[in-house]
Amino acid sequence: MRLKIFFATLLSFALALSFTACEGDQGPAGPQGPQGPEGPIGETGPAGEGVQNCKDCHGSNQLITAKLFQWENSVHATGGAYNRNAASCAVCHTSQGFLEVAGTGATSTGGTIQEPLPQNCYTCHMIHQTYTDADWALTTSDPVTFWVKGEMADIGNSNLCINCHQARIPSPDLPEPGNTDMITLTNRRFGPHHGSQGVMFTGNTGYEIEGPAQYANSVHTLAIDNGCVNCHMAEVADGRAAGGHTFRVASEGGDLNFAGCVQCHDDTGELETLVEDTQAEIADLLTQLGARLNELGILDDALEYAVTPIDITNEQLGILWNYQYVREDNSFGVHNYKYAKALLENSIAALN
Ligand code: HEC
Ligand code: HEC
Ligand code: HEC
Ligand code: HEC
Ligand code: HEC
Ligand code: HEC
Repeated sequence: MRLKIFFATLLSFALALSFTACEGDQGPAGPQGPQGPEGPIGETGPAGEGVQNCKDCHGSNQLITAKLFQWENSVHATGGAYNRNAASCAVCHTSQGFLEVAGTGATSTGGTIQEPLPQNCYTCHMIHQTYTDADWALTTSDPVTFWVKGEMADIGNSNLCINCHQARIPSPDLPEPGNTDMITLTNRRFGPHHGSQGVMFTGNTGYEIEGPAQYANSVHTLAIDNGCVNCHMAEVADGRAAGGHTFRVASEGGDLNFAGCVQCHDDTGELETLVEDTQAEIADLLTQLGARLNELGILDDALEYAVTPIDITNEQLGILWNYQYVREDNSFGVHNYKYAKALLENSIAALN
């Protein structure tokens, strides 16, 4: 209270001073200054009638809600690996990291991504760029140059997927076939790192060692122009068990969604058998190769990781790559039967 009075007194004193302190009469007013330059024209607003554009997406059609409902059942939403947010992981594992480098081919972000988000609507679509339904455009669908071996692929909208579903640069580097020098392997996780589907489907990045089998691509690679989305984003099955924005081709229980197959395989009973036989054959070759690598002391008993440190030839290193490459593709021949089979058969032949 006392302080307030003090300041009030001080203020009236200062005011009084400012009125009494002027000396002599004020001079005449000066001429008016020139007019300032015109400001820049503002940005044109989005076409249409304001909020009407918002309604294209946020309207009563529940478009977003339907896709969200499917997405919530995708491994993108539930997998939990979005917390791999260090610079060399965040480009694929976080939404923000992907958008930071999208389309540039950069293999890491500027730094760790804070408050990481998994792959969501904003990762794949240009949400809220123009606030019109043109924002459903994909964040990138340019052809992709793969990180390992530098081969190019162009599978339309699925180019988006293979930015992330591709092999990471391994340590040590993938050797050239024909190099039989010794090398000491210390990295037990040597391999393409879990997402080899993009390179497998397009028939790239294998260690193409010579052998009895010819390297070729299956009909799927040659005939399914839009790639991954044809099968993994086919018409939704059972509400949201598979298809659409679940990105699943099989439900969690393992039931295949045939919606992306029937255009070519009209008998789903036959197709089911074809899938079983194909997967059994590739799984068997894979086990044979794994068992051989295990016999040589290169692969652990679970047939999962390398036994390190170990001195091996560059050829054995390339064969270990092929093993992990086919294993981590996880489709057991559905993506590219001929290529997977040739890699495994030639690898087995080279070790025997
Ligand atoms: C291309 C379709 C599209 C258009 C057009 C659009 N939005 Fe969105 N909006 C989305 C999507 C997709 C999300 C994310 C939904 C989610 O993850 O829950 C979103 C999220 C939002 C959110 C939630 C907060 C946020 O930013 O994530 C708000 C608020 C919002 N939009 C307002 C608007 C307004 C206002 C307009 C019009 C000026 C508009 N939106 C136009 C697609 C659109
Ligand atoms: C920004 C990188 C990125 C993009 C783009 C992307 N994915 Fe993924 N995807 C991932 C990661 C990372 C995982 C593993 C997520 C986890 O476990 O948390 C994954 C998981 C998946 C899975 C589940 C795998 C499993 O183990 O069950 C499928 C299927 C899949 N993605 C398909 C696709 C398809 C199809 C597209 C393109 C329409 C696509 N992805 C685009 C990074 C991406
Ligand atoms: C080129 C993109 C890419 C980069 C870079 C990347 N990952 Fe991944 N990662 C993936 C994809 C795609 C999957 C999902 C593969 C699948 O489920 O088929 C995955 C899966 C995983 C998983 C789940 C594996 C499992 O078996 O469930 C872990 C853990 C993981 N990554 C860790 C990392 C770490 C740590 C880094 C950085 C050192 C990293 N990733 C860098 C693409 C990438
Ligand atoms: C991993 C990438 C990815 C994510 C995450 C994703 N989408 Fe998509 N979305 C796609 C692709 C690819 C297509 C085109 C599919 C095709 O070619 O058939 C698409 C298509 C669409 C379409 C149809 C667009 C059109 O032009 O008619 C809508 C709507 C849509 N997505 C909404 C969403 C919403 C909402 C979310 C978030 C819940 C979301 N998407 C998340 C990849 C993604
Ligand atoms: C011909 C249809 C077809 C095409 C095209 C296709 N896939 Fe697949 N994909 C499958 C089938 C079938 C499986 C095996 C599912 C199973 O056995 O559970 C599979 C398995 C997978 C898996 C492992 C899923 C899991 O549960 O572990 C991922 C990830 C995947 N595909 C991603 C992709 C990506 C990325 C592309 C594009 C480069 C692609 N797929 C192209 C049919 C397809
Ligand atoms: C664009 C047409 C097309 C689509 C789409 C397609 N396939 Fe095929 N698929 C073929 C043809 C053609 C063959 C070769 C048949 C042969 O050689 O006897 C084939 C072969 C296969 C094989 C045997 C391995 C191989 O590659 O020769 C499997 C397994 C298979 N398809 C599963 C599927 C599944 C599962 C889907 C859907 C998720 C699917 N296909 C979608 C055309 C297609």
